[in-house]
Amino acid sequence: MTEYTTIRTEQVDRVGVITLHRPEALNALNTQLMTEVLDAVTGYERDPGIGAILITGSEKAFAAGADIKEMQPQTYADTFAGDLFAAWDQLAQARKPTIAAVAGYALGGGCELAMLCDVLLAADTAKFGQPEIKLGVIPGIGGSQRLTRAVGKAKAMEMVLTGRLIGAEEAERAGLVSRVVPAAELLTEAHKVAATIAGMSLPIAMMAKESVNRSFETTLAEGIRFERRIFHATFATADQKEGMAAFIDKRPPEFNHS
Ligand code: HXC
Repeated sequence: MTEYTTIRTEQVDRVGVITLHRPEALNALNTQLMTEVLDAVTGYERDPGIGAILITGSEKAFAAGADIKEMQPQTYADTFAGDLFAAWDQLAQARKPTIAAVAGYALGGGCELAMLCDVLLAADTAKFGQPEIKLGVIPGIGGSQRLTRAVGKAKAMEMVLTGRLIGAEEAERAGLVSRVVPAAELLTEAHKVAATIAGMSLPIAMMAKESVNRSFETTLAEGIRFERRIFHATFATADQKEGMAAFIDKRPPEFNHS
């Protein structure tokens, strides 16, 4: 396993786990951490033994944003020429399901990182926000787009224009997170969700993910056509035969991911 300094990685059965680990900076996303997360994601994507990727932080912070100390001296030319934060698109492009388990602060780039994941589970201690405006910038890792799609215009505008943080309950009511659980149970629950997904047929889970994601990119009619074509394609897999045979035989399915 690659040696990382700003993250911890571990494999739990078919789940690849990434734990952000820069406690001295509340897991602020500096270049090294971004590079390490994306490297770990690439490794899990390539590993046929991994069916889901779980990303989490600490009790106090999922991530308190992009690293302000690293960003502060940069010029417009630096950010433009280096296409600052564009690399995070790689996580959005991940084909295996990703789960974010958020406790504590998920601010700025931290909130955006959580929103890059497919399933977002929150501890009751979670606080979400896009406070970039207070620093004289705006969200730069998709926050103005993904937050708006998740919670609607009025709440996204208020959060992006005032920097107001929202708690876990408000985030759940607004549709930003799939579920809120007591902080002490966050990791157990997140592992359960990840293991459940990883226990499904991998190609089918990837098709399901691709189909849901399509809804953000296309018209309803095209999205439904896309879904139907993929649905038809599931019948080309051994796992469709196994899944339906198992139901008929009243036994659990044994998917072989083909
Ligand atoms: C760099 C950070 C950091 C960050 C915290 N730290 N957030 N360092 N970048 N985003 C560091 C602090 O400087 C401090 O280091 C240590 O972590 C602990 O933080 P404290 O502030 O002392 O902790 P606390 O008082 O508990 O306050 C927690 C907090 C606060 C409310 C989360 O740290 C905070 O407001 N952080 C910034 C949140 C933010 O604005 N995020 C958006 C970033 S911009 P020292 O060395 O002093 O101990 C962003 C842009 C995305 O994400 C893309 C578009 C540009």
